[in-house]
Amino acid sequence: MARIEIEQLSRRFGATVAVDAVDLTILDGEFVALLGPSGCGKTTLLRMLAGLLPPTGGRVLLDGRDITNASPKDRDLAMVFQSYALYPHLTVAKNLAYPLRSRRVAKEQITEKVAAVAEQLALTPYLSRRPKELSGGQRQRVALGRAMVRNPAAFLMDEPLSNLDAKLRTATRTELAALHRGLDATFVYVTHDQVEAMTMANRIVVMNGGRVEQVGTPEDVYDAPASVFVATFLGAPPMNVLPATITTDRAADPAGRVVATGDGLRAELWSGPTPDRDVVVGVRPERLRLAARPSSVVGARDRSFLALPTPPGCPVRLDGVVEAVENLGSEEVAFCRVGDVQVAVRGPRPLSLVTGEPVPLTCDPDDLHLFDAATGRRLRWVEHAVPVA
Ligand SMILES: Nc1ncnc2c1ncn2[C@@H]1O[C@H](COP(=O)(O)OP(=O)(O)OP(=O)(O)O)[C@@H](O)[C@H]1O
Ligand SMILES: [Mg+2]
Repeated sequence: MARIEIEQLSRRFGATVAVDAVDLTILDGEFVALLGPSGCGKTTLLRMLAGLLPPTGGRVLLDGRDITNASPKDRDLAMVFQSYALYPHLTVAKNLAYPLRSRRVAKEQITEKVAAVAEQLALTPYLSRRPKELSGGQRQRVALGRAMVRNPAAFLMDEPLSNLDAKLRTATRTELAALHRGLDATFVYVTHDQVEAMTMANRIVVMNGGRVEQVGTPEDVYDAPASVFVATFLGAPPMNVLPATITTDRAADPAGRVVATGDGLRAELWSGPTPDRDVVVGVRPERLRLAARPSSVVGARDRSFLALPTPPGCPVRLDGVVEAVENLGSEEVAFCRVGDVQVAVRGPRPLSLVTGEPVPLTCDPDDLHLFDAATGRRLRWVEHAVPVA
C-alpha cells in the first residue's frame, strides 16, 4: 500500500521558490508522471518525498502517516536516479544485494531475492560483471533492480531513461509500464519528456515554476489543457495559440453570434449573449486543414483554389502564408504566418503547400480551445467563456 498525500509542500533555496505550495494526492498503485520544463521543481519535489531534502513548508503523508520529517530509510520508498548511482567497484549481484545487506537481511534470503529480481529484469547473465562492463540500458535495469529488492511500497524515479539512446528508451518505456502493472506498486516518475509521460502514466502532473498547472489523465491534459502553458508544452509541434477578441455579431444572428477575431483569424462560435473579452485561441496542428481544396488535381502553377472564399458551414478561418514545410516521413508540418504568429499545420504527406504562398486554413469549431488572455487559464466556451473551476 502506498497512497501519498502532498499538502502545501514548499521548498525555497534562498530567494528561489523551487516548489511552491503543491497539493497532490497519489493513489495506491498509480503511475504518476511529474512533467515540466527544466527547473520547474520536479527533482526538488521528488527529493522531498524521498526524505533527501527537508521541505520549508507543508506535509507529506504516506498512507495517512505524517512522514514529512522521517528519515529516508523509514519511508518504504525507493528512489531511482538518472545517474543510476551504482557502486562501481561492486558486481551487479552485490549492487543488487546492497540495500538488503545494509538492512541485515539473512544471507539466504538475499541470494534468493537477488536471483528473482535479476531474472525479472533479464540481468541473470550479468550478475558477476561490474557496472562499467554493462550497457546504459543494463545499468539502468540494475539501478531499478536495486530499488526492487526491498519491495518498496512506492518507486520514486528521476528521469531514469534519460541516459539511454532513443531506441533503447522506447523499449525500456514499454518494459517499465509492464513492470508497473506486474509489481502493483505506486510509481512517481519525473520526466521532461512528454512522450514518456503520455505513454506510461495513469495521471500526469504538469508543473511550471514550482507550481502544479494541471493534474489529469494523458487524455485530459492533451485534449483539454487547463492553461496556455500546458497547451503549448504538449504536442509535436505544440498547440498553436493566437490572440483574439470575443465580440457578439448581431448582424449575423439576431440572438447574437459570438465571434472570435484576431489578426488573420475569424471563428464563429456559439450563439447567445456573451460579454466581450480578450482571449487566446488554441488549435492543435493536426486539427487544422486547408479551407479550400481544388475539385481537380491542381497543377504546380494553378493554385487558384487558394483564393476561394471560405465554403459555407466552415465557421473557422485562418489566413496564413506558408513559411516552411518540414517532411517527417509519413507526415508533413507546414509553418504558416498568421498575423504575428507562426501556426503549424500537421497532416499526411504531401500537404501540397508551397513556401511563400497564401494558405486559407480551417478546423471544426469544436477543435478550438479558448483561454483567458490575462490569466492564460482555460475557458469553458460551451458555457459562454467562463473560467474552468
Ligand atoms: N540545492 C539547490 N540550491 C539552490 N537552488 C536549487 C537547488 N536545487 C534546485 N535549485 C533550484 O530550484 C529550482 C528547481 O530545481 P529542480 O532541480 O527541482 O528542477 P527540475 O524540474 O528537476 O529541472 P531539470 O528538468 O533540469 O532536472 C531551479 O531553479 C534550481 O536552480
Ligand atoms: Mg531534475
